[in-house]
Amino acid sequence: MPQVDLLIHSAAQVATCASPDGPRRGAAMADVGLIPNAAVAVSDGEIVAVGPSDDLLAAYTARQTIDAGGKVVCPGFVDPHTHVVYAGDRVGEFELRIKGATYMEIMRAGGGIVSTMKATRAAPVERLVQESRPRLDAMLALGTTTIEVKTGYGLDTDSELNMLSAIAALDAVHPADLVPTFLAAHAVPPEFKNDPDGYLDLVITEILPRAADWHKQAAFKIQNSKLFCDVFCEAGVFDREQSRRVLSAGLAHGLPPKIHADEFQNLGGVSLAVELGAVSADHLDVTPPEEVAALAASDTVGVVLPAVNFNLGSTHFADARAIVDAGAALALATDINPGSAPCPSMPLVMAMACRYQRLLPAEALNASTINAAYAVGLGDRLGSLEPGKQADLLIVDAPDYRHLAYQFGVNLVQTVIKRGRVLTV
Ligand code: NIG
Ligand code: FE
Repeated sequence: MPQVDLLIHSAAQVATCASPDGPRRGAAMADVGLIPNAAVAVSDGEIVAVGPSDDLLAAYTARQTIDAGGKVVCPGFVDPHTHVVYAGDRVGEFELRIKGATYMEIMRAGGGIVSTMKATRAAPVERLVQESRPRLDAMLALGTTTIEVKTGYGLDTDSELNMLSAIAALDAVHPADLVPTFLAAHAVPPEFKNDPDGYLDLVITEILPRAADWHKQAAFKIQNSKLFCDVFCEAGVFDREQSRRVLSAGLAHGLPPKIHADEFQNLGGVSLAVELGAVSADHLDVTPPEEVAALAASDTVGVVLPAVNFNLGSTHFADARAIVDAGAALALATDINPGSAPCPSMPLVMAMACRYQRLLPAEALNASTINAAYAVGLGDRLGSLEPGKQADLLIVDAPDYRHLAYQFGVNLVQTVIKRGRVLTV
């Protein structure tokens, strides 16, 4: 009998979320590839087999076995949109918003992203690592095994490169895999207050080429992962043409585009993303139906971030139901950041998406695993339990996967397995 490194058996359910030919869409979103009384076999950090427990117990011996009786096994969550690396916090702005100030008013008054920029510029790489690491630990304990991380709190050449160095250093020391995104076009820094195009000139002629060069020699645990290029396309930040400039320059340096679009005002960011072949278009809070249709006809994944709406005290959420029903590929993310979403929890995001965006728990789970992996260009390697994929999986202390979204304010993730290794979290 062949021997495997690890055999997790007798699970009440294994949710495979398998989707080898691209993200799940439409009716397929309500199917998580469920196998009852199931097992998963793992060797050399990869999944070897998934199937009925009796079959796998008969087919393999194992160096280590885990009895997952009465529990659920599912893929580790992929969080495809975060700003988790930063210094300081913005707890004062939380109080300002409670008293009535809006997110964009605070930003226009020189707070918001620029306030975190000041703290981040003042922090050496080691301090960025030290302050961010506990946040990654919290995410991992809540089941997130792969984390996209954006720059965008440096907003000058050295500070943006410091952020990239901190992201790479965290990837090296942390069990989670980190995927970097270049977001120098996140805000206009104070030294270019009245000259956003002057700042974009600096981004395009200096910061971006340096970042692209840096990435060529950077070592991330995920082999040959991309550096993405993102922009905050929003009224009062960067308009559609400015966004096009940045993302086109990124493409010229080999960086696939992503975009923050339609968080507060619709500027046509989704159709721009589709036109440029972006890997994802994110937020989508006020995206009109014709742009949802354009998204559905494309390979761009729509990423919605309900923790932002919740954190900003809004009752308006992206219409994720319409996005799924139109046939677009939908993913969920936390957007963890010190301003609009100080939230590390994918299960809480799933809970919100089910209640306020009318996703079924199965749709929320696919959006947090396989579709989220496609939103960072890694759907062929991560996000589902299929032979040959990286063995990133969770044992959930519940008899049915729907509990992941049904219960909230509790962590049902009991065991995190990363690259086949059982972690203590
Ligand atoms: O995705 N909207 C722009 N960027 C972040 C917020 C970052 C911040 O406020 O620090 C977002 O919501
Ligand atoms: Fe964001």
